[in-house]
Amino acid sequence: MAHAAGTQATEGWSSRWGFILAATGSAVGLGNLWRFPSEAGTNGGGAFVIFYILCILLIGLPVLLSETLIGRHGKADAIESTKIVARDSGASTAWSALAGIGMLGAFLILTFYSVIAGWVLYYIGLFASDVFTSIGNGALLGGAFQGQTLEQIQDHLPALFANNPLMLGMHALFMALTAFVVARGVHGGIEKIAVYLMPTFFLLLVGITLYSLATGAAGEAFSFLFAFEPARLLKPGVMLAALGQAFFSLSLGSAMMITYGAYADRKTNLAGTSTIIAAADTAVAIIAGLAIFPIVFAAGLAADSGPTLMFQTLPASFQTMPAGSLIGFLFFVMVLFAALTSSVALLEAPTAWVMKRLRMARSVAALLLGGLAFAIGIVSALSFNVLENWHPLNVSIFEGQNFFAITDTLTSKILLPLSAFLVALFVGWIADKRLTDDENGISGGLHMTWRILIAYLCPLAVGAILVYGLVG
Ligand code: TRP
Repeated sequence: MAHAAGTQATEGWSSRWGFILAATGSAVGLGNLWRFPSEAGTNGGGAFVIFYILCILLIGLPVLLSETLIGRHGKADAIESTKIVARDSGASTAWSALAGIGMLGAFLILTFYSVIAGWVLYYIGLFASDVFTSIGNGALLGGAFQGQTLEQIQDHLPALFANNPLMLGMHALFMALTAFVVARGVHGGIEKIAVYLMPTFFLLLVGITLYSLATGAAGEAFSFLFAFEPARLLKPGVMLAALGQAFFSLSLGSAMMITYGAYADRKTNLAGTSTIIAAADTAVAIIAGLAIFPIVFAAGLAADSGPTLMFQTLPASFQTMPAGSLIGFLFFVMVLFAALTSSVALLEAPTAWVMKRLRMARSVAALLLGGLAFAIGIVSALSFNVLENWHPLNVSIFEGQNFFAITDTLTSKILLPLSAFLVALFVGWIADKRLTDDENGISGGLHMTWRILIAYLCPLAVGAILVYGLVG
């Protein structure tokens, strides 16, 4: 179902809930389930979590509202929408660079996001076969990976890394799924999967969390995530990590919320909608922590294992959990749903623009960009084996980093914060206030608060992470 070029302005969500589910689907992803718990773990738990919530409220939410209102005013791809707001405000259309930077960021995130989502696919298979083994042994209620040692379970990840056809195959499969959904359009593809997958995701999350709290070390998990340690709170490293994570998790600075905002109709209240999206995203991150840590602590393992928390520590922890293989299987299915509703958003932002610029059918643009992202992603995948010690850009903040790490650093420390910084300056200082106030749907004290935050606190804070990220 190809759409003629230039018609994307007529594409849109079928309802406000379509928008909320799709945008929440984009925000809720590997960032919440994989990155948030591991960041909280390596940054000391409670202090990180408190600062994270402050960042979402005071900095993330005002920027989120600003991005959606740019899109909704322009009703076009992210770059064009920003140009329209600039033009209607009598400002330079060069401000559209903020969307271009974000779009590049989204595209680059997609390249490695799909690699990690590919690991998720593999773990679904791993747990599925373990479910069958347990049923065969008549021990479905026993833990996962019966008879395997801790090392053997953790070795599933290096074994995957050592198997390039498998790793690249999973990466290809995930990217193909993503491109397929985007090719089917905003309403028929992106909104449709969000409407099915997101409610299922929430049910799985709540179910797994309750089960994990009931069977695992709930008390330890609570005190780890919520213990207030003022001494750790003011560490710049922790603050930077929390703000960076808040931005990544809300999908800010990546042209994505501008793109999705453009598909919202004029009646949608953007402030209310943004608040729901931010609240849902934050709730999912914290609930994910409450799902993961009780299992990990019950198994006597540590919370601070970083990126391998989900792929090594957690699978090992399912061994001591009753019905661990089934719950592990459901857990990774849930992660896949979250990852897919995010990856389609990552692909949609550049696709909407390419369709219009190159007058290309939606399906062709989606396949082309998906293919390119797949190809670049191969280099990230190989960064886990043969290219592990290849440091193509061995200077300053990229020193000692392989291709995967460089892409991650470039997006999360430079492109996303830079784009969000420009959004805050643009909406706070440049764009016509009548125009932005007309779009945002708030008034009175709340409106004043938003104005002050977006004009002062947001650029300052985001500017600070940018500078600290570059020199620190
Ligand atoms: N928010 C996503 C997550 O938590 C990651 C992400 C960042 C993203 N920027 C994005 C997803 C833009 C979609 C579009 O996993």
